[in-house]
Amino acid sequence: MSKKVLILPGDGIGPEISQEVNKVLVQVNQQYSLDIEFEQGLVGGAAIDQAGSAFPEQTWQQCQAADAILLACVGGPKWDSLPPAERPEIGGLLQIRSRLELFGNLRPAILYPQLADASSLKPELVSGLDILIVRELTGGIYFGQPRGIRVNEDGVREGFNTYIYNENEIRRIGKVAFETAMKRGKKLCSVDKANVLEVTMLWREIIEDMSKDYPEVELSHMYVDNAAMQLIRQPKQFDVIVTGNMFGDILSDAAAMLTGSIGMLPSASLDITGKGMYEPCHGSAPDIAGQGIANPLAMILSAAMMLRHSLNMAPVADKIEAAVEAVLDQGLRTADIYSQGSVKVSTQQMGDAVVAALKK
Ligand code: IPM
Ligand code: MG
Repeated sequence: MSKKVLILPGDGIGPEISQEVNKVLVQVNQQYSLDIEFEQGLVGGAAIDQAGSAFPEQTWQQCQAADAILLACVGGPKWDSLPPAERPEIGGLLQIRSRLELFGNLRPAILYPQLADASSLKPELVSGLDILIVRELTGGIYFGQPRGIRVNEDGVREGFNTYIYNENEIRRIGKVAFETAMKRGKKLCSVDKANVLEVTMLWREIIEDMSKDYPEVELSHMYVDNAAMQLIRQPKQFDVIVTGNMFGDILSDAAAMLTGSIGMLPSASLDITGKGMYEPCHGSAPDIAGQGIANPLAMILSAAMMLRHSLNMAPVADKIEAAVEAVLDQGLRTADIYSQGSVKVSTQQMGDAVVAALKK
């Protein structure tokens, strides 16, 4: 039976990297007779410009009809002066995540040996690095109500957000984390700020309670400030990290740099049934958009995750990942992962090289 994939190129570097992902998917579709149907949709600033809102009704329909969604990135200075709820990030990306209930965000940070030089840490600290950050994606301070900017009694403006998790939300993401840990190194570190924030005191209590059901998993807890430090001090101590929405956002960027570049990091955002949206961890990088220098590999690797997790095509995902390794072996690097002695390539050349490696 044919599978439907919805591609949402979004903004900034999104369209350029999506084009390369598209090439890769067209290639595997043909090469392995996958019978995948592709469709494109509008989200973010592009959707505001063309359809009047960051997450138009038509895109919502397309999302529901799709077996999996591949999203590039959204946002840019052009839309930064809109009211918060209408902006590409809140009105587009957060809306999709929330309406599709994609609460489980898996962000693997793996160091490709070929890129050890590109890491900001010494090679011995990062060689063999393989961390998985499980980030809660549809709750916490990103979504808590009330939120806003108001004028207080003294006539002074104040901005406010609400950091809230209920125990069901914590259990739901905790389950993903424990189960993922079971399939990996059986080590789970839950990151919170339980020395200060009640919401994470509850978080810690629930995760601790859940650990009784997973006696094989070695559970530890860490405050987020320490976790940030440990990620840079000795990143290989981690296997799986589970944390809330905002801490996960921050720690996954830090973890990205350990692997050389955020341009290499894919992610999967899954609902309770495992249906998902796949997105690179990076943003829309408006400063380099349109120059043909963005790294398409995070999104190509996100497509591989999609084939594996949502489309039941793990062997093809393996092929794409092997093709990415092959181009790295050839010394091809986009600007973000370039180091002396390697060959600097454009976005398009990188996509072409992955396709060529697949054909071999
Ligand atoms: C991410 C991004 C988004 C987030 C932005 C673009 C809203 O930084 O996916 O990590 O904060 O979740
Ligand atoms: Mg982020």
